[in-house]
Amino acid sequence: MTGSTQVPYLLRAARGEVLDRPPVWMMRQAGRYMKAYRDLRDKYPSFRDRSERPDVAIEISLQPWKAFQPDGVILFSDIVTPLPALGIEMDIAEGKGPIIESPIRTQEQVDQLHPLEPQESLPFIQEILKALRQEVGNQSTVLGFVGAPWTLAAYAVEGKGSKTYSVIKGMAFSEPAILHQLLGKLADAIAVYVRYQIDSGAQVVQMFDSWAGQLSPQDYETFALPYQQRVVKQVKETHPDTPLILLVSGSAGVLERMAHSGVDIVSLDWTVDMAEARQRLGWDMKVQGNMDPGVLFGSQEFIRDRVLDTIRKAGNRGHIFNLGHGVLPGTPEDNVRFFFETAKQADKLLTVHA
Ligand code: CP3
Repeated sequence: MTGSTQVPYLLRAARGEVLDRPPVWMMRQAGRYMKAYRDLRDKYPSFRDRSERPDVAIEISLQPWKAFQPDGVILFSDIVTPLPALGIEMDIAEGKGPIIESPIRTQEQVDQLHPLEPQESLPFIQEILKALRQEVGNQSTVLGFVGAPWTLAAYAVEGKGSKTYSVIKGMAFSEPAILHQLLGKLADAIAVYVRYQIDSGAQVVQMFDSWAGQLSPQDYETFALPYQQRVVKQVKETHPDTPLILLVSGSAGVLERMAHSGVDIVSLDWTVDMAEARQRLGWDMKVQGNMDPGVLFGSQEFIRDRVLDTIRKAGNRGHIFNLGHGVLPGTPEDNVRFFFETAKQADKLLTVHA
């Protein structure tokens, strides 16, 4: 794929076309493992500045594009970015992640949340996405992303990241009506936000329900799945052709349930074998993933074997090659480069190794 008028690999994979190699990008591909990012972070120490100032966010989003030419270029932002626009103030603390000033614990607080007006409160998102589309043209695909209702509710209710999710589970299992209202409001706002990202230039949107893997399958069906479905249904009503990806962290026990969300592509982590996941989901469901990000700390020989093994197991259609979750801080940049180069030559390397 070199011509400027061709449909890029990632969109072709999302349509289920047979391809000579899968498209490849990496979750968190812009970020701390890159020296260029760390240098900019010294200049703009606030995460909200880095992600909400269009000039800076555009530059960061394009750092991995310039270094490695991935088949997907993701907006540099965070899943909690729209929360202040709903009335939930937040900050993102170095090394800690999102911090919510006044966690949502009462019916009154849920009643006070506003609907999302993205053009008023998040105009920088449009500016960033437009610039990314302009920059990459048909050489790559621009991805937007959002948090899913359960995962955003987990931050809103807990007030920060958690190991146990005991505050939100306490609410779920003692005052479910309050939580269902919060989840419903979040779902409607997220649907508006996905549409806004698509209208601004996102060609694929990934929904992160990172913490839904903390739920038992039966609770996933009550607190995560119906709200994933609510977002997907609303987006598909107005934007039926934009592929949607769903990621849940630690998802091996809920894969089939993820497919019921209505998304086009299920993102897999490394707790499931790629070949088994394709069997379980059926070959009509497209998949993304699923190399362990820890492999990038290994030797290049080991990395090459795992890249090719994953691509072989996934088959030649409906697969977007990726890590199973975000690239880790401290990952050698040279190994990231090697990961992209190997994946892009997979057609040749697989014939040689066969
Ligand atoms: O370039 C890209 O790939 C986009 C990067 C991206 C960020 N956040 C930037 C970021 C993405 C896709 C997110 C989504 C996000 N944010 C998720 C879903 C993905 C996942 O990991 O499951 C979640 C759960 C969050 C919440 C969040 N924000 C966490 C857990 C952290 C990290 C805390 C830490 O320091 O380890 C953040 C902060 C954050 N968001 C960073 C980055 C690059 C690190 C802080 C920094 O670079 O200053």
